[in-house]
Amino acid sequence: MISLLNQSLWRTQLYIGGEWTDADSGHTFAVNNPATGAIIAQVANGGASETRRAIVAADIAQRKWKNAPAKTRSQLLRKWFDLVVENQEDLAQILTLEQGKPLAEARREIAYGASYIEWFAEEAKRIYGDVIAPPDNGKRILVLKQPVGVVAAITPWNFPNAMLARKLAPAVAAGCSIVVKPAAQTPLSALALAVLAERAGIPAGVINIVCGEDVAAIGSELTQHPALRKLSFTGSTAVGKKLLQQCAAGVKKVTMELGGNAPFIVFDDADMDAAVAGAMASKFRNSGQTCVCANRFYIQAAVYDEFVAKISRVMSEELIAGDGFVESTTLGPLISPVAVEKARGLVADAVARGAVRKEIGQFALAEGLAKEYFYPPTLLLDVPPDAALCNEELFAPVVALIKFTHEEEVVALANATEFGLAAYFYSQNSARIWRLAEQLEVGMVGVNEGIISNEMAPFGGIKQSGWGREGSAYGMEDYVNIKYLCIGSIS
Ligand code: SIN
Repeated sequence: MISLLNQSLWRTQLYIGGEWTDADSGHTFAVNNPATGAIIAQVANGGASETRRAIVAADIAQRKWKNAPAKTRSQLLRKWFDLVVENQEDLAQILTLEQGKPLAEARREIAYGASYIEWFAEEAKRIYGDVIAPPDNGKRILVLKQPVGVVAAITPWNFPNAMLARKLAPAVAAGCSIVVKPAAQTPLSALALAVLAERAGIPAGVINIVCGEDVAAIGSELTQHPALRKLSFTGSTAVGKKLLQQCAAGVKKVTMELGGNAPFIVFDDADMDAAVAGAMASKFRNSGQTCVCANRFYIQAAVYDEFVAKISRVMSEELIAGDGFVESTTLGPLISPVAVEKARGLVADAVARGAVRKEIGQFALAEGLAKEYFYPPTLLLDVPPDAALCNEELFAPVVALIKFTHEEEVVALANATEFGLAAYFYSQNSARIWRLAEQLEVGMVGVNEGIISNEMAPFGGIKQSGWGREGSAYGMEDYVNIKYLCIGSIS
């Protein structure tokens, strides 16, 4: 446990129907700090029965909540946002402890998560319907937007606060109730958010949190229970496909925010300092463990050496691996030794195919850190386009550089993947900017920008990176059903 200003944010029980409860079995599971490997909490290990209870509680709550005035929903969300801001330091401490990211980055994540709550507090008042011109004067056509009903959400460990906020806030704003299963590695941030939602006055049963290690048992309830109307999932494409299959039986509405394989393209007409700054921000956010982070760097031949020199210098100046609680740390651990092994395998494959590997940055880990959780910041030069990492998410602090010559060639390389989440490119040629932006097969493009996520923009992918959008007014659409009214006998 850590010492928090508000110790009541430290919760290890499930939150179901407004009650904090243990698992029916009384069992718990261990949560550890990936920086040290130390166990920091034992959390109630829920399973299928607790999930069913949470869904029933959500179903009961939803019948009232859907009728709560938009202004009430908005005010409660606003109060929740205010409490998150008031408690941001404690929330950041919990986040760093269970996830490992540097405290400064954890603070940014809390602000990022809070921005979704604030945004949807405002949007709750702006769920507009429509009036459409009828085919004849005897009718009127109206479109209503109504809450989809009880929502299930499964959230990842890489953003244990923000990914939850991004699903909870629009659900609550739209008049839905929700059952969330946070990742077993990082349940404490989710539970702390629920404490604040309860304190804000969000009614019992509207938000429910079921933690547990038995992903299959909880997942099958969250995809197949008849009371559920929708699933929102953030995680890998492989898991997303299984969940989609399970949802198909009940024809549930889904939002899938799945894997990425973002290309980051630097043309010879780019502002090279801006490109390096964008590359650093995109690649090293959360130690490279984001689905939107640059996975493959395509650098045009004429500026390749300059880019290598500049990024090598910035990496060596800025990257310091260590415990997220140490102020100088800019690079935390990976989530597990398995993640470290995966990165090692992908780097070894690239090297076996001819890439040159350089470790750059400070990687002298302090005594007491769990070395098996850390991966050194790495620059891979001259990666061949057939390296496995060109098709798989690295999820590690590895910059893989591929040289290209022509624009058509790089567009083909960038699009040669089953993923379609994000892409980035740097160029100062306005005609090229339009061409590329239109040709890249992704849901989000950063043009001369390495950080594209914010609450006002529609986050989401195409191809096997998912369905639906989160954040922005588009994000609200995923939580409402459209109902068309045809009113006859008017004249
Ligand atoms: C993710 O990696 O899943 C989300 C990252 C973001 O919201 O920027």
